[in-house]
Amino acid sequence: MDIIRIPGEMRETAENLRRAGLRLGLVPTMGYFHEGHLSLIRRARAECDRVVVSVFVNPTQFGPGEDLGLYPRDFDRDCELAAAEGVDLLFAPAADDVYPPGYATYVDVERLTEGLCGASRPGHFRGVATVVAKLFNLCRPAVAYFGQKDYQQAQVIKRMAADLDFGLQVEVLPIVREPDGLAMSSRNQYLSVDERRQATCLYRALGRAAELFASGETGAERLAAEMRAVVEAEPAARLDYAAVVDANELTPRRRAAPGAVAVVAAFINDTRLIDNTILGTDDLKAGATAC
Ligand code: PAJ
Repeated sequence: MDIIRIPGEMRETAENLRRAGLRLGLVPTMGYFHEGHLSLIRRARAECDRVVVSVFVNPTQFGPGEDLGLYPRDFDRDCELAAAEGVDLLFAPAADDVYPPGYATYVDVERLTEGLCGASRPGHFRGVATVVAKLFNLCRPAVAYFGQKDYQQAQVIKRMAADLDFGLQVEVLPIVREPDGLAMSSRNQYLSVDERRQATCLYRALGRAAELFASGETGAERLAAEMRAVVEAEPAARLDYAAVVDANELTPRRRAAPGAVAVVAAFINDTRLIDNTILGTDDLKAGATAC
């Protein structure tokens, strides 16, 4: 596995591989790998000739007072795990090389970024779209892999890739969960033992919504209220949002239908967690290995 630090070298290496007729897969990450990241890497490995994984804690997607400085990092471990999965290129640029002095250009995806995480994290998706656009330009992959865990992010990136004619395929893969259902996240690291136990309220809230929907309840307000109640039953939890939204537009729905997405975000003390489920599917069960 080669480690590339310089954007120009990433561009040149990817260009050479493409010229040789090889199909590139890109997995953008902020590192501190868990099984969610590895599931994307494995899919890329299975589908592509060469796999590029980026590890970059992107400063422009963190708001003032968010956890940029605290965000967990373990580059050596990430390298070992990536190499063990057969990654060909690990791209880990320095922030100053991605955003050199005088940097002035950002990508704004309208509408889709207004609600949900976009409402509580102003500027977040502008930073995400910008860095992902830059990664797409540097690597020009045939396929880029993202997780359903960050549902809104995946929709924003799909839209950006289509709107800006990147000419690549965006694949969105299922949420990988801990045995008790908690969606894997680098931020789970922040949780104390007691918070970790309470953090399953997001999964349980989605489970409650999915169960009610399966039994015929389609009122989105009612489903959201039930989710809210499950989250708020935990003393350390503070709900950010719970809603049922359209799968593509992310707009609130009045009536839930198969394919609509139940989304939830909550703080467990200081740690902000998100999760979601596509109604009418078994995706909550599929992700958790045991409960
Ligand atoms: P990061 O949080 O490191 O996540 C990298 C990718 O892994 C994202 O596509 C995310 O949706 C996916 N992922 C995270 N947890 C997952 C889980 N439990 N199951 C399946 N996939 C999971 O998301 C980012 O980084 C950044 O915003 C990034 C896109 C790299 C731009 O900086």
